[in-house]
Amino acid sequence: MEVAPRPGETAPALQQTLRFLTCGSVDDGKSTLIGRLLYEANTLLEDQLATLERESRRLGSRAGELDFALLVDGLEAEREQGITIDVAYRFFATPRRRFIVADTPGHEQYTRNMVTGASTADLAVILVDARKGVLTQTRRHAYLARLLGIGAAVLAVNKMDLVGFSRATFERIRADFAAFGARIGLADISAIPVVATEGDNVCQRSARMSWYEGPPLLRLLEDAPLPDVAAAAPLRLPVQWVNRPHADFRGFAGQIARGTARPGDAVRILPGGRESRIARILGPDGELDLAVAPQSVTLTLASEVDVGRGDLIVAAESPAQVASQFEATLVWLHEEPLLQGRTYLMKLGTRTVAATVAPLKHKINVNTLEQLPAERLELNDVGVCELELDRAIAFEPYAVSRALGGFILIDRLSNGTVGAGLINFALRRSENVHWQALDVDRQLRARQKGQRACVLWLTGLSGAGKSTIANLVEKALAAQGRHTYLLDGDNVRHGLNKDLGFTAQDRVENIRRIAEVSRLMVDAGLIVLVSFISPFRSERRMARALFAPGEFFEVFVDTPLAEAERRDVKGLYRKARRGELKNFTGIDSPYEAPEAAEMRIDTTQLSAAAAAQQIVAFLEAHKVTLPP
Ligand code: ADX
Repeated sequence: MEVAPRPGETAPALQQTLRFLTCGSVDDGKSTLIGRLLYEANTLLEDQLATLERESRRLGSRAGELDFALLVDGLEAEREQGITIDVAYRFFATPRRRFIVADTPGHEQYTRNMVTGASTADLAVILVDARKGVLTQTRRHAYLARLLGIGAAVLAVNKMDLVGFSRATFERIRADFAAFGARIGLADISAIPVVATEGDNVCQRSARMSWYEGPPLLRLLEDAPLPDVAAAAPLRLPVQWVNRPHADFRGFAGQIARGTARPGDAVRILPGGRESRIARILGPDGELDLAVAPQSVTLTLASEVDVGRGDLIVAAESPAQVASQFEATLVWLHEEPLLQGRTYLMKLGTRTVAATVAPLKHKINVNTLEQLPAERLELNDVGVCELELDRAIAFEPYAVSRALGGFILIDRLSNGTVGAGLINFALRRSENVHWQALDVDRQLRARQKGQRACVLWLTGLSGAGKSTIANLVEKALAAQGRHTYLLDGDNVRHGLNKDLGFTAQDRVENIRRIAEVSRLMVDAGLIVLVSFISPFRSERRMARALFAPGEFFEVFVDTPLAEAERRDVKGLYRKARRGELKNFTGIDSPYEAPEAAEMRIDTTQLSAAAAAQQIVAFLEAHKVTLPP
């Protein structure tokens, strides 16, 4: 296909697209600068868009796909990732190159937007106000850009007219930024003195700063090296969906993240590890002999292998890594802090798994680059942690592939994106610690005891009556000859959990340990009674997820705060009200009541003995007192 260039122009090659990001504080002139660029390049915009539309219709599947498709893809990828963002992607073109600029508005949600914009950009234009120079904010943006894989930056020193076009001021700011850049591995920096409002050094060299000998911004952007599309790399195709229109056809569709695919190539399906060969490659316009990153294609395989959404199809001779434990860098994006020990959903490409933060190694002071010890990450914090997944996944370190090493963390209750992360490397123990298969299993152990193993998880405020009721239930079960164990908050906090206090993160860890201990005890064939405040839904849900359906029964011991406080068996509410006890549940630390507990005991209506009887009857109805 040929699109007639305008007289005196050459049509830009299709793959000539530079994706860049602009960062700066609100008043640095970011919008003006982008506006200026768009305005001056604007003459081309309309017919470039028309061209693009024409090309799109004719050319959907060519190597180095259409830029506009890329633009749309980018947005869709974000939508699919569940990130609600406020990033405007603008498209413009010059005769030499096309551009996609991610414009991130500079208000509170800035980090979130910037992370989103930066994760697909090749270059960052960092604006500073010549009167203010390099600020904490500037360093922060540069750090995040670098973290997210941007290797080149343009430092646009704006408002030069307000410092009398002073070369010395410009040089000082340039040196200042270069020093920081060197520390974060951002070596490719070009600095330009500009006046965005009047266009000096934006598209044309400025006559008012003749001491500046470099090119104007637009020229710099036109000449910036483009990223390597990694066509030479081994094949990586994350399966986005399995296309099965009828029984004779099974196609695996996705966007090639790296490398090339040809019919006949040997492939491996990760994380499973089965192998096959590519039979056919289908693009929107039919069969292909060759497909290259970042094309979107459908593959069929020569043999019947089980491939699902989220699997990664890779070159058999050079597969990606598979692991379930990682060191990762996180950028926290939510007001609710990240807590060590909490489990989140991790979405990496097309795969979603459960990931537990354990432990948080440190956070980074983005200004000084100091590593600080931390137990939580607050909004906009950057930190390094270990992550344990519930399943192994195929991946590449972020430094090798943004698509296969970048992920987001999602809160399991709200379903909102709470963090963005980059895989640094897999931890070796994930390969070296294996699950030992044992011959005596839980079934056998439970059968010997003539019962089904399960957990009865009592949750409720301090002084609600959990321990009293649990104790009566255990007594009744023991009298029937059942094998039980009662885990009680106060008792366990004297031993296994004596290192934990009552901050939110300590409670998360408290419950995590107890959930794991209950799992071992259920494995040992016991009926386990757990009596812990366990105030957070998220951790109760995590505990539940460790068990099979029908093995975990949540009992909400529902005593209103006023009533628990009136009883105040241990005198703790009085202490808390006097301010002598901090983080007391119900007073200055939250209690999240269960939404779908198997049982609710209203202690204002029912005596402890009656409650215990009800629970025992419930267990009998669920046949836990019968052999499996
Ligand atoms: S949990 O929130 O982490 O599940 P857990 O059940 O282990 O709490 O411990 C609660 C018991 O610790 C309470 O019954 C009370 O006796 C005691 N306690 C001491 N300080 C606090 C506090 N700040 N908040 C709640 N309970 C406390």
